[in-house]
Amino acid sequence: MSDETLSNLLKEDRRFEPPAELAADANLTEEAYARAEADREGFWAEQADRLSWDTRWERVLDWDNPPFAKWFVGGKLNAAYNCVDRHVEAGNGDKVAFHFVGEPVDDKQTITYAELKDLVSQAANTLTDLGVQTGDRVAIYMPMIPEAVVAMLACARIGAPHTVVFGGFSSDALASRLEDCQAKVVVTSDGGYRRGAPSPLKPAVDEAVVKAADLGHTVEKVLVVRRTGQDLGADGWDSDIDVWWHESVEQASTEHACEFFDAEHPLYVMYTSGTTGKPKGILHTTGGYLTGAAYTHWAVFDLKPETDVYWCTADIGWVTGHSYIVYGPLANGTTQVLYEGTPDSPERGRWWDIIEEYGVTLFYTAPTAIRSFMKQGREIPDARDLSSLRLLGSVGEPINPEAYVWYRHVIGGDRTPVVDTWWQTETGSIMISPLPGVTHGKPGSAMTPIPGVAADVVTEEGESVGPGNGGYLVLTEPWPAMLRTIWGDDERFKDTYWSKYRDQGWYFAGDGAKLDTDGDLWVLGRVDDVMNVSGHRLSTTEIESALVSHPKVAEAAVVGAKDEDTGQAVCAFVILRDEAGDGGDDIVEELRAHVRTQIGPIAKPRQIMVVPELPKTRSGKIMRRLLRDVAENREVGDVTTLADSSVMDLISKGVSSGAGGE
Ligand code: PRX
Repeated sequence: MSDETLSNLLKEDRRFEPPAELAADANLTEEAYARAEADREGFWAEQADRLSWDTRWERVLDWDNPPFAKWFVGGKLNAAYNCVDRHVEAGNGDKVAFHFVGEPVDDKQTITYAELKDLVSQAANTLTDLGVQTGDRVAIYMPMIPEAVVAMLACARIGAPHTVVFGGFSSDALASRLEDCQAKVVVTSDGGYRRGAPSPLKPAVDEAVVKAADLGHTVEKVLVVRRTGQDLGADGWDSDIDVWWHESVEQASTEHACEFFDAEHPLYVMYTSGTTGKPKGILHTTGGYLTGAAYTHWAVFDLKPETDVYWCTADIGWVTGHSYIVYGPLANGTTQVLYEGTPDSPERGRWWDIIEEYGVTLFYTAPTAIRSFMKQGREIPDARDLSSLRLLGSVGEPINPEAYVWYRHVIGGDRTPVVDTWWQTETGSIMISPLPGVTHGKPGSAMTPIPGVAADVVTEEGESVGPGNGGYLVLTEPWPAMLRTIWGDDERFKDTYWSKYRDQGWYFAGDGAKLDTDGDLWVLGRVDDVMNVSGHRLSTTEIESALVSHPKVAEAAVVGAKDEDTGQAVCAFVILRDEAGDGGDDIVEELRAHVRTQIGPIAKPRQIMVVPELPKTRSGKIMRRLLRDVAENREVGDVTTLADSSVMDLISKGVSSGAGGE
């Protein structure tokens, strides 16, 4: 982000006080900050008491061997029991867990906690029948349907860590994840509804199973939900490995006695992009993660489980879906909306119709969605009754002040606080956010670490920058929902997150941030080679590898350029191989399609520029800063460290004459 944008941001002087009614009855009040600061472990133990433990822990935190933490040492619990059974046992079996809304209008289903308990027990029995044992990994590749949640909880129930792969990823991306975590079983569906039409999923699983086999890994079973009823084709079913959900789960017993697992038992692996090409399998464990998810969902959303109707629009394939659809809200016994489809299907007001129909009170979405609604105009939400809303949340990327104010004003009718929540796949739960009954809202700022969390903005050397200055965002104390390692790669875990401030023992988040003169925090985005496109993390290297795997490409460099709709957009510069000539008329489309098949539609470059050279330093490092200048149509900055300073002229000339084009 440029200094100019920064100073504009910091001139932001609009302030919104917490609504008096909310403040008077807020779940967390001002005193929590000092209490947590005075006795951090005691505070987290109090939060762990939100859960039901089969065996109580002996020690809150074991930080004897950093950065490998153990939380609630010696404690035993079951995550699915905490999310489902205990609510039924407490007499809340008839309470609605999910109002499921399918994309086809009128496709609705209500699932109570008692029904959810039966479904999860049945799925747990089926997974066991399919040979899944405690510790085995299960991959889930599904649309946003209740069975996705059921599958996750069934895995948790039997202690088989799940890895949910976003349904928009390609079969290649799925195969590499299946191989990396050695998944024994895949749970999927024939397809899901997307923009008014059935969209297949099972064929990608079939391809991925073959590709995983090529990588040396055998998937044993594929459990398939019939969602769309679409034709799977003659080769689309292999009765040796494929099993229908309705012929197994729905026939299974609803009785399932759950086992209790160690607090540090692996709960799930979630793959996320890092600075190298290979995605990182972020490992979360049970007790600490569930404590973090439940506490933050209760505190940051000021959850009143008896009356609130909560809706998080994230996909279950991302960490937000894990922490704030499945584990946090269900551990808290929340009633929520689960929606399968896109915001504009069958027409643009779909989300607002859903809020009106179910009386949603707490709503959590991403800035990229808010910006797209701003573009469509306020008439669409204005035509609906959104008066049930009492709190709005934002996650995934910095929310620009204009979008924040529009969100609060148009969607929230100026009644609702907006909580801008900063966190990551790695942190597991929200770290920095206003507390809705305490903190005044400041458009664009995530404000301060929540009680229990310690963060700072520091220089390269680790000095606090203090109010009015920018630097690197670090977390200075361990927290219960922190990642425990990168699946199968402890060294990479240490290197990526803990080596920059090794002496201090701090976690480096990879984000830049600035403290304003009040000491409130503004997250500025990634400082490494990770892009944030519509709130989704993509690594430049991952897309570069995809591009150079195309036979016509010799070299590629990818940068994230500012984009009005998606926050950042993928811009690629490629050098073609000599034998490819000019690549042909369709070269740009061909390469975009190639990235799409290699990774998935979200990674498809907005722009591909065919260039004769790439700007490199004398040591051969690509100077992305200069490419970003070109991609963002700025005057190219300082080129003095380039090995060949004429390269930028060549690139700029090529781009402005339209060579390669968009
Ligand atoms: O750069 C930050 C940005 O998203 C990154 C984490 O991405 P991911 O692991 O995919 O998790 C997304 C959902 C938690 C962060 O390093 N980010 C996330 N939330 C915010 C944000 N940037 C600014 N403000 C936020 N509220």
